[in-house]
Amino acid sequence: MDFTRKTTLITGASTGIGAAYARELAARGSDLVVVARSEDRLRALQEEVEAAHGVTVHVVPLDLARPGAAAELQRRVEESGTAVDVLINNAGFATFGAVAASDPTRIAEQVHLNCSTLTDLTTRFLPAMVERGHGAVINVASTAAFQPVPRMAVYGATKAYVLSFTEALASELRGSGVRALAICPGATDTPFFEVVGEQAAVGVRRRPEQVVATTLAALRKGRPSVVDGLLNRLVTLSPRLVSRRTTLAIAERVTRPRPAA
Ligand SMILES: NC(=O)c1ccc[n+]([C@@H]2O[C@H](COP(=O)([O-])OP(=O)(O)OC[C@H]3O[C@@H](n4cnc5c(N)ncnc54)[C@H](OP(=O)(O)O)[C@@H]3O)[C@@H](O)[C@H]2O)c1
Repeated sequence: MDFTRKTTLITGASTGIGAAYARELAARGSDLVVVARSEDRLRALQEEVEAAHGVTVHVVPLDLARPGAAAELQRRVEESGTAVDVLINNAGFATFGAVAASDPTRIAEQVHLNCSTLTDLTTRFLPAMVERGHGAVINVASTAAFQPVPRMAVYGATKAYVLSFTEALASELRGSGVRALAICPGATDTPFFEVVGEQAAVGVRRRPEQVVATTLAALRKGRPSVVDGLLNRLVTLSPRLVSRRTTLAIAERVTRPRPAA
C-alpha cells in the first residue's frame, strides 16, 4: 500500500506501538491524525515527525475509554476537513488479577476502549473508505486473543473480540479496495507493562518497530490477520493441537504469580 499523501489516524499514538506506527507511516509520506490522552507527548511526536518528514500531523487529545468518544473524534476530524485513508485502532490496555478482585470502573473502561471504541471508529470511518474504493483498517489485537487468559480474563476476551471482528470484516471487504487486518503482537517492549504490571510479562519482548514491519508486510499480502514473530506464531498454534481444557490449564500456569526471588 502506498502511504504517500494519505492520511492515517492512529489511536494510542503517544507511546509504544502507536508511536512506532506514527514514525514509520510519516517516513512513508502519510499525514497523521494522532489520538491519546497525553497531549504533551502527542505534541512532541508532532514536532519530531513534521520536522523529519515534512508531513502534517493533527493532534487530538481525547479519552477514548469514555462513551461518545468515537463520535467526538469523528466530529473533530471532519471539522479539520481531513479524509481518513487508514485507521489504526491501537489504543488499549490490560489489567491483571482475578475478576472478583477487580475495579468495575477500570474493567468497564478496558472493554470500552479495547472493543466499543474500536468498533465505533471502524463503523464511522469505513463507509467513506469503501466509497473511495481504497483504505485500510488495522486493529491491534494480541496473542492473548487465541486462548482464555486467567488473571487477564477481560483483556484476553477483548482481544479475542478484536481478532474475530477484524477477520470477519476483512472477508466482508473483499473486492472493495479496502483492507482490514488484525495484528497480534506478543510481549512487546512498551510502557504497556507499566500500566498492567510486570507480573503480566511472559516471554521475550519484541520491539514496536518489529510489530510495525510485520503489520505492513501482512497488509501488502492482503492477509486478514497476522501474529508478530515466529515464536509467538508457534505459541498461538498450540491451542489447535490440544484440548481447550489443556489450553486453559497451560494459560493458568503461565500467568500464575511467581514467588519473589
Ligand atoms: N506491549 C505488549 O506487550 C502488547 C502485546 C499485545 C498487544 N498489545 C496491544 O498493543 C496496543 C498498544 O499498546 P502498547 O504496547 O504500545 O502500550 P502503551 O505504550 O501503553 O500504549 C497504549 C496507548 O494507548 C493510549 N491510551 C490508553 N488509554 C487510553 C484512553 N483511555 N484514551 C485514549 N488513548 C489511550 C496511551 O496513551 P495515553 O496514556 O496518552 O492516553 C498509549 O498511547 C494495545 O492495544 C495493546 O493491548 C500490546
